[in-house]
Amino acid sequence: MISFQFIETSIIDGVGLIELNRPKQYNALNRRMVREIVEAMESFDQQDEVVTILITGKGRAFSAGADIDEMANEDSIRLELLNQFADWDRLGLIKKPIIGAVKGFVLGGGFELALCCDLLIAASGTEFSFPEVNIGVMPGAGGTQRLTKLVGRTKALEWLLTGDRISVEQAQEHGIVNRIVAEELLMEEAMKFANKLAKQPPLSLRLIKDSVNKAVDHSLYEGMQYERKNFYLLFSSQDQKEGMQAFIERRKPHFNGR
Ligand code: CAA
Repeated sequence: MISFQFIETSIIDGVGLIELNRPKQYNALNRRMVREIVEAMESFDQQDEVVTILITGKGRAFSAGADIDEMANEDSIRLELLNQFADWDRLGLIKKPIIGAVKGFVLGGGFELALCCDLLIAASGTEFSFPEVNIGVMPGAGGTQRLTKLVGRTKALEWLLTGDRISVEQAQEHGIVNRIVAEELLMEEAMKFANKLAKQPPLSLRLIKDSVNKAVDHSLYEGMQYERKNFYLLFSSQDQKEGMQAFIERRKPHFNGR
């Protein structure tokens, strides 16, 4: 694993915490930073003591998007050969639930990173947008696809073509954000939520996320068949035995992720 220059990581009570740490540049995402985020997530995904992943940004913003200074002089062939978005594809393979705690600006690639999260807690006053159109490009890390699947074609086109800011209230109304909290309580509330999930049986979390993701890309019938197999799979787990036995014995279950 590379040593981290642009992020900080820690593990707190079952929660793997990733903090973007380029606050002077509003956590603008350079390539190395994206690689670090991916590697930290993959590492947390492999560690038994981590049940959920929480990602946030230090300073005033979650992230103002891809690093424009790094991109300004690129050419198409170099970008093709770099294949930098392959790192973003790896984010879609993380099995554990990812919670984003966002505030300030969530722009461009920062918005795309937020859309890679499974759940979003946002501080009041947070603003989202895809401003790429204003600098002569367009989203390249999934923005046109993930936003459209989430909010539908009409609003996605409006926001992508204008680059207009989306208020946190609009984001909640359109299902982008799960909860809005006061900015000073953002980390406390996000941690509380992450800790709550971290107490759930890890295999159930994993297979629920897996099944819900299938619903996005597959027909109802295919998704139902897939869900069923995951349901059956959980009956091979110790946590299923423990969870049901605890219910019968009227006691609290103790899950071990196996
Ligand atoms: N890339 C590089 N540097 C950035 C940046 C970015 N995306 N966003 C902010 N910064 C830097 C600024 O250059 C500035 O650095 P210096 O202090 O060294 O000059 C510092 O962060 C503070 O920025 P501002 O002085 O502009 O602060 P502000 O409060 O006036 O404005 C802002 C904040 C609205 C976020 C503004 O900086 C801005 O519009 N940033 C660019 C947003 C953007 O266009 N993002 C999309 C990027 S493209 C993309 O993400 C493509 C993709 O799909 C992968």
